[in-house]
Amino acid sequence: MSITLVPEATCTGRNVLPKMKERAEDLAIFGHEPTFPEKLHVGRPNSGERQALMERFNHILDTSWFTNDGPYVQELEQRLADLLGVRHCIAMCNGTVAMEIAIRATGMTGEVIVPSFTFVATAHALQWQQITPVFCDIDSRTHNLDPNKIEHMITPRTTGIIGVHLWGRACDVDALTEIAQRRKLTLLFDAAHALGCSYQGQMIGNFGNAEVFSFHATKFFNTFEGGAVATNNEDLAAQIRLMRNFGFAGYDRVIYIGTNGKMNELSAAMGLTLLDSLDEVVELNRRNYDCYKAGLSAVPGIEVLSYDHAESNNYQYVVLVVNEPLSGLSRDELLSVLHAENVIARRYFYPGCHRMEPYRSYYPHAGLMLPVTEAISEQVLSLPTGTSMTPAYIDEICQVISTATANSDFVRQRLVKAADRASEIGR
Ligand SMILES: Cc1ncc(COP(=O)(O)O)c(C=O)c1O
Repeated sequence: MSITLVPEATCTGRNVLPKMKERAEDLAIFGHEPTFPEKLHVGRPNSGERQALMERFNHILDTSWFTNDGPYVQELEQRLADLLGVRHCIAMCNGTVAMEIAIRATGMTGEVIVPSFTFVATAHALQWQQITPVFCDIDSRTHNLDPNKIEHMITPRTTGIIGVHLWGRACDVDALTEIAQRRKLTLLFDAAHALGCSYQGQMIGNFGNAEVFSFHATKFFNTFEGGAVATNNEDLAAQIRLMRNFGFAGYDRVIYIGTNGKMNELSAAMGLTLLDSLDEVVELNRRNYDCYKAGLSAVPGIEVLSYDHAESNNYQYVVLVVNEPLSGLSRDELLSVLHAENVIARRYFYPGCHRMEPYRSYYPHAGLMLPVTEAISEQVLSLPTGTSMTPAYIDEICQVISTATANSDFVRQRLVKAADRASEIGR
């Protein structure tokens, strides 16, 4: 046992705490105290067992091996490869550089098909290398690339597809693999969210030419900053290792163009420490997820996005889809209500890469091809979860959502008035 489990190990699914905000006028937007005195964030970092981490840090200082393929990096790579059942796992300084290197090593050029409904790094990793990200729409059910829409986007300049396993839910890997093979395209996956998740029983990390993970501090498994490329292709792995280290093949021998993508030893120490408690973190995320599911099951227009329990999941995201005609509130109105209560829910991934720079200037009409992306990015909200959340906190958050939506007209009037007042002050 290496992390502290919060005391209440079950959720009620009913809102029974005395502090509960059952009346609309008790909500913080009406001037009441926020439900939580401190802000609750999405993606608060995990750090595992401190003693073990400190021992590893001390060892790094004692041995003076800080970076350059050190023993902790090598151990982390081996343990991750074992966890994923993949032949090669190459640790990197972050997920974005890992993606840039994977893109370059697989020879992508020209145009590459990607979703717009993702973190902007997926698109930037291409554009950074003068490769055009061609944004393809998603499936409204899965939030991942819609395989039926990919073929329309292929041109003579297309060299690859990058699928994103959003929220840790696997893309339709079979369909994407079939298209990539038939059209002779490289296939990569952005698996930033998907460590510990599976597709048809096989761990993510084994699909396409390579898959790329992020171990950023906000992820349930983090190395402060970090990432990795997983692949079963021996030659590709060797090439990626060279690229990660300036192309060095010996002390003075550079045989390839490269960059600095190395993970340092402190980061690897954090990764090794967290790996020891990974199952417990997932268990807590699963419990939190179940609490939200139960607490929101009867709230009209609020859907908690499902995971396929037949697969391995990390449950690191609790995602709501707000259906305004049924909930009475828009996603953004609900966000204002939650922020006032110090629940810092996030609009992941709003407004879609195609509406961010430089893409909105380069491709101003991209949205015409992305109706599902445009709709979903207006509806989705990520809620706080992770090891610092308790079922009691989650009950309170569910109650706030339930009270706000049940009194949507009243809440909306208040928000409109507050917005009017703010604009008057601004005048
Ligand atoms: C989907 C996705 N892709 C790529 C990245 C980039 O990873 P990093 O922050 O490790 O560079 C992130 C998040 O950070 C992400 O969520």
